[in-house]
Amino acid sequence: MADEAALRNLRGRARAPHPRDAVGSGSIWFGGNVSRYYDSLLAGEKRKLRPQQIETLAVHRWLGARRSTTEHYKLVHSALARLPRAARVMDAGCGVGGAMLWLEQREPAWQLVGHTVSEEQHGWAERVCKQKVPPCRFTVQLRSYDAPMGSFNAIYSIEALIHSPDVGATLQAWSRHLEPGGAVAVIDDFLADHPPPTVLREPEIARALAAFRSGWLAVGLCSPARLAAAAAAAGLRLVENRNIGEEYQVVARNYRSLAPKLPNESEWKSHQGWFGSIARRILTVRGVVEYRLLVLAKVGAVPLPSRRRLGQIESRHMSGVGRSGGSRMACISPWYCCGQGVKLWDEMNATRTDSLSFLRLPRAIFGNYMENTMIDDG
Ligand SMILES: C[S@@+](CC[C@H](N)C(=O)[O-])C[C@H]1O[C@@H](n2cnc3c(N)ncnc32)[C@H](O)[C@@H]1O
Repeated sequence: MADEAALRNLRGRARAPHPRDAVGSGSIWFGGNVSRYYDSLLAGEKRKLRPQQIETLAVHRWLGARRSTTEHYKLVHSALARLPRAARVMDAGCGVGGAMLWLEQREPAWQLVGHTVSEEQHGWAERVCKQKVPPCRFTVQLRSYDAPMGSFNAIYSIEALIHSPDVGATLQAWSRHLEPGGAVAVIDDFLADHPPPTVLREPEIARALAAFRSGWLAVGLCSPARLAAAAAAAGLRLVENRNIGEEYQVVARNYRSLAPKLPNESEWKSHQGWFGSIARRILTVRGVVEYRLLVLAKVGAVPLPSRRRLGQIESRHMSGVGRSGGSRMACISPWYCCGQGVKLWDEMNATRTDSLSFLRLPRAIFGNYMENTMIDDG
C-alpha cells in the first residue's frame, strides 16, 4: 500500500521549484516530483516492455559491446556474493522490477523487496510482470526508499540514489535497516573526484551540471568521497569503488566520445529526463561525471550523537610483541573479523548436524567485532 506521507514528503523535498514548474498537468517538467517524472516516463515506454524479456525492463543505460542492460544485475550480484542463502534484500528504486526478476532466478531463496515512488511502475510490476512471469516471489512497495520496512542483509540501488534530496539521510535510513555485516551496493553517476582542472571553469560545463540536476532530477549528485564521508557517518564503510563507466567504455561505446551542445532549456519540448540525459552525456564525455559501482559494508551501530567530542580509531589486529603492541597482522579468525562470521554461522546453521547441536552461541556475536570504535578523545 502507498505510504502517502512518505511520497508527499519526497515530492516536497526533491528540489526548489523550477521556473517552468508553473505549467499545468500534462507538462513535461515535473516540479521536482520524482513520482510523476517516472509515471510519465513509463507511459511513453510501456509498449517496449516485455515481462518475458528481462533485458527490456531496465530503466538505466546499457553497458558493454553487446549493449547489455542486465550487466548491472551481474555487477550487483557479484558485489553481494557473500550474503546468507535466504538473504533479505531491498532494491532501492526498483523501477518495474527487472533486477529483482533477474536476481530471483539466480538466488531463489533471496527475499527481495523493491521500492519505487512511481505509481505507474508499481502497478506495472504488480499486475503485468508478476502475473505473466510466474513464479515471481519478489514484492514491490509504493514507498520511498528512505523508509525501508524490516531489516535487510543487503540493499542495492541502480540509478536511483541520485534522486535522493539528502543522500546522508538516505544512507542513515539504510544503515538502520541493515543487519550487522550487511552491505549496500550502489550503481550511479557520481561527480569525478578529480575532474580535469580547467574543464570545471567552462561555462558550458556549469550549464550542463545545472541541467543534469534539474533535468535528470539528479539532486543527490555527489562525489564518491562525499558519499564515503556521509556513509561513514551512517556506520557504513566504503569497501569497493569501481569506475564501471571506464571498464565498459561508456564514453566511447555509448557516446562515441562526442559531447553534444546543450539545447536551450526553455525551448525543450520533451520529457525533462531526456534533457537531463544530454547534460549527463556532456558531463561524462568531458570527465566531470563518472559511472561507478560503490559497495559499502555496515561496520557497526550508527553512532549516537554525544555532547562529548568523539574521535574515531581504526581497530586492527596486532601481533602483541613488545611494548608497542607489535606490528599489524592479518585476520586471526574469520568467525570474528573480516565480516565473515555471520556467513559462516548461517552456513553452519543450515547444515547443522547432531554433533553440532551444542553450538548455540547467538548469531549476533559473530561477524566483525573489530569495528570502528568511538572513543572519547576530549
Ligand atoms: C532510473 S530509475 C531506475 C530503476 C531501476 N533501478 C532500474 O535500473 O531499472 C530510478 C528509480 O528510482 C526510484 N526512486 C527515486 N527516488 C526514490 C525514492 N525516494 N524512493 C524509492 N524509489 C525512488 C524511481 O521510482 C525509479 O523507479
